[in-house]
Amino acid sequence: MAEIKTIGVLTSGGDAPGMNAAIRAVVRTAIHYGMKVMGIRKGFNGLLNGDIYEMNLRSVSDILHRGGTILQTARSKEFATEEGVKKAVAIAREHYIDGIVVIGGDGSFRGAKDLSSMGIPTVGIPGTIDNDIACSDYTIGFDTALNTVKDAVDKIRDTATSHERCSVIEVMGRHAGYIAIYAGIATGAEAVIIPERTFDFKRDIVEPIIEGKRRGKKHDIIILAEGVGGAVEMAKRIQAETGIETRATILGHIQRGGTPTVLDRVIASQMGAKAVELLKDGIGNRIIAMRDNKIVDFDIVEALNMTKKMDPYLMDLARILAL
Ligand code: F6P
Repeated sequence: MAEIKTIGVLTSGGDAPGMNAAIRAVVRTAIHYGMKVMGIRKGFNGLLNGDIYEMNLRSVSDILHRGGTILQTARSKEFATEEGVKKAVAIAREHYIDGIVVIGGDGSFRGAKDLSSMGIPTVGIPGTIDNDIACSDYTIGFDTALNTVKDAVDKIRDTATSHERCSVIEVMGRHAGYIAIYAGIATGAEAVIIPERTFDFKRDIVEPIIEGKRRGKKHDIIILAEGVGGAVEMAKRIQAETGIETRATILGHIQRGGTPTVLDRVIASQMGAKAVELLKDGIGNRIIAMRDNKIVDFDIVEALNMTKKMDPYLMDLARILAL
C-alpha cells in the first residue's frame, strides 16, 4: 500500500460525548507521526461539499472536555449513492487526502467501507451513546449518557417517593436496550423494558408494582427503552390497572450532550490514536473496537456482519435486584 501522508477526519450520524476527545487524539497522533490532518465538517456531506480545512495542534486545544463534536455531524443521502461516493473520493483526492478516519455508528461505517473499496483507506471509530456496534463491547459516549440518565432518574425518584407515584422513564438507544438495562441496574429500577426481551404487561409491570406497594415501597421506577417506546401510553395503562398515580418522562436529547466522563475521554483517546496508527502503516477498511478491555480492530465487512447479543444474565440481574 502507498504511504499515507494526509488523513481526513470526520464525525457522522448522531453526536456522542467523547467524539471531541477522539478527534483530538486523531489530530495529535497524526501530527506526532509527521502526517497532515484535514478536518471534514458535517460528516460525509462536508466531504461532498469540500467543507474541509487543515487542522493543527491548536485546532484541538480546549475540546477534550466538551460534548458534541467540533467538526459537527450530519446524515447524508447523497453519499449513500454510488455517484455520491465517487464524487467524495474525487474531492478527497483534490485535497490530497489519502486516508480517512470516520467517527460514528453503523451507518457511518457503511460509508467508510465504500470509501475504502473506492481506494481511500478508511478506519471507523465507534461513537454513539447507544453501545450498539456489534464488534465492540463499548462505544464512545455510552458512559456519559448513562451518567446523565442516572442523574435524571435519581432526581425523578426523589419526587416519585414524595408523592408515592410510579414513574415511567423513556431512554434512548435506538433499537437496542443497553442504555436502559445499565441505567436500570444503576438506579435500582423496579422494571426495565427493552427490545431484546419480550415482556408481559401484567406479570412484569402491574403485579410487581402492586406487590411492591403491599410490601411498603414508596415509589416505582420503570425504565423503558425507546426501541419499545410509548412511555405516555404505558403510564396511563399502569395508572388504570394499579390505581397508583403514574407520570411519564421522555429524557430525549439531554442524553447526547454534556462533558464526557473519564471513561469516554480515555477510550476515545485510545481509539483515535489506534486509528491513526493503522493508517500510518497503510492499513484501511478497519473498525476500531474494544474487546475484553483491549483496543483491537476488525475488517469492516466482517464487523458489519456481526450481531450483538445482550448478556441474558444482565437482564435477569435487573429483575432480581428489583425485588
Ligand atoms: O444513535 C443515537 C441516538 O441518540 C439514538 O439513541 C436515537 O434513537 C437517535 O440517535 C435520535 O436521532 P436524532 O438526533 O436524529 O433524533
